[in-house]
Amino acid sequence: MKELLDGLVEKNKALIKYGQVANYIPLLGNADPKDLGVCIIDNLGSIYSSGIYNKKFTIQSISKVIALMLAIMDKGEEEVFKKVGMEPTDEPFNSLYKLDIPYGDKPANPMINAGAIVTTSLINGNGEEKLNRLLEFLRKITGNDTINYNEEVYLSEKTTGNKNRAIAYLLKNKGLIEEKVEDILDIYFKQCSIEMDCQDIAKIGIFLANKGRVLNTGEKLLDNKTNSTIIAIMTTSGMYDFSGEYAVRVGIPSKSGVSGGILASVPNRLGIGVYGPALDQYGNSIAGYGILKDLSEELNLSIFT
Ligand code: DON
Repeated sequence: MKELLDGLVEKNKALIKYGQVANYIPLLGNADPKDLGVCIIDNLGSIYSSGIYNKKFTIQSISKVIALMLAIMDKGEEEVFKKVGMEPTDEPFNSLYKLDIPYGDKPANPMINAGAIVTTSLINGNGEEKLNRLLEFLRKITGNDTINYNEEVYLSEKTTGNKNRAIAYLLKNKGLIEEKVEDILDIYFKQCSIEMDCQDIAKIGIFLANKGRVLNTGEKLLDNKTNSTIIAIMTTSGMYDFSGEYAVRVGIPSKSGVSGGILASVPNRLGIGVYGPALDQYGNSIAGYGILKDLSEELNLSIFT
């Protein structure tokens, strides 16, 4: 496995030149586009890594998966999906126009920004409590007590996040969030700024692959129904408006973030974390996608075969 990963990292470095590091959040623009790494954990706990796999990065939209877990645990599926849909969308992740058309309804799904701001608002607790619960949950899943958010990236996004501000005001206007707009955005920006490395991300992947059971402790944190809902939403919406092609070519439930991370979970088998900050036009890691596509073919990982 180690040789396979080394080979795939080397091969897919060739894609980096076709991608670009996100810079709409200024601090993300400091990432090194040449970085590329991967970590895989199997359900016996064996860990395989290659490339730049132990550099920390902010998880950005990968946090939307964790927010959805907590929102469902706290409020139940019925309540959550009254306020956010479960349909894939061909809109970009930061789109807002459908929130403002006359027949516009709730956000399409919890993996786009509009939907994620709603799910964060559905997590129990006041602002800082929501964030602390997200952090505690992630520390439990990964067994890594040092997980925290990056203050500088948070402030960078807070200063420049006017598109998300516009989205949140439209959500507030529709009665889909209860909190003050700035208060809920503060938590959303902080959750996006949580830092992890590929191994932490792979631990989330194996947690989902094992139906919500923590690999090291055996603790069951998600019921089977919630786990399968999360896996289904990742499969249909986790790679934004590239989710359909990704399902065909890779076929692994996954979630990307604009810092270049990808969380992938092969049910009953593997958790995978990938990092490569050069992004394609959809906001997905361009070389990270290449690695996952090759891995899926090499190890026959598609859930559709
Ligand atoms: O809200 C934002 O724009 C970022 N904090 C997260 C977006 C993101 O990661 C989308 N990913 N592809």
